[in-house]
Amino acid sequence: MGASTPLKTCPLTTDIYNELSCATEALYLFVVDKLRAAGCVYAEEEARLLVSSVPMAALHDSVQQRVSGTPLEYVLGWAEFLGHRIALDEGVFIPRRRSEFLASQAIDLLRPGGVLLDLCCGSGALAVVIAASFAADEAVTVWASDIDTNAVRCATKNLASLGGLVVQGDLYEALPVDLKGRVHVIVSNAPYVPTLEIELLPREARLYEPHRSFAGGPDGLSVQRRVAREAPAWLARGGSLLMETSEAAADCTKAIIEAAGLAARVVRSETWDATVVIGTRVGGDGVP
Ligand SMILES: C[S@@+](CC[C@H](N)C(=O)[O-])C[C@H]1O[C@@H](n2cnc3c(N)ncnc32)[C@H](O)[C@@H]1O
Repeated sequence: MGASTPLKTCPLTTDIYNELSCATEALYLFVVDKLRAAGCVYAEEEARLLVSSVPMAALHDSVQQRVSGTPLEYVLGWAEFLGHRIALDEGVFIPRRRSEFLASQAIDLLRPGGVLLDLCCGSGALAVVIAASFAADEAVTVWASDIDTNAVRCATKNLASLGGLVVQGDLYEALPVDLKGRVHVIVSNAPYVPTLEIELLPREARLYEPHRSFAGGPDGLSVQRRVAREAPAWLARGGSLLMETSEAAADCTKAIIEAAGLAARVVRSETWDATVVIGTRVGGDGVP
């Protein structure tokens, strides 16, 4: 119902409704001012989200948190990702909109009833939106893994209703051995920022998100190399590894995936400003 549409025509209800809507408007404008003064570039959008989703009793503290620099997603406790609200705890990597491209590529490749592995899962955002794109009678099996305790706790919450299993460990380390050779799609948004470039990231990322989420070693590709090296052992024949990477590093990521024995191609979306390399485990006869 639009803000200017009274619930009923009864004059008393109309008055109360109009008063409430004026109060909400005034509150919204007040929050916009506060955020603008603090230098928030998207003050209007952020104020709308805060006023509409934070309970009144907590709104003052939430606005103060945001004004003092805490990323909006940590203040809200969720991030929007491919149309889903992903619960987010402080200290867990904030899913980036560009990674929606990685998710959409995986959705295209995964078949009903398939097995999905989200490696370096963070909040589990990728696994959630990929799994949720399948109807109940076509449900996929979901595994996710991360080295970080906070990420594993957060992903476990997000994947509970989808039956996803989340393990903690270094890359593939904590996964059950009998999963080897059975995974149809591995998605991995592994850290890919060259370690010396972390200090060039936006302030909010540097100060609030775990550095381990970004740190890709001297050339940014250390974790990708390890992900790719072991991927063929976990993939079913015809299965694919999908790795997000930077546009500049796309050819290097492709070479890494080819060196691991997978047939690789680069896909790029200008809309999302995102680059993904897809490596497929081909059969011995060259056929996926
Ligand atoms: C860039 S974040 C991506 C998170 C999530 N996939 C997303 O797109 O929102 C990278 C994640 O990799 C995890 N990570 C870093 N090194 C790892 C390792 N050796 N093994 C497992 N996870 C690792 C970090 O804890 C972090 O959650």
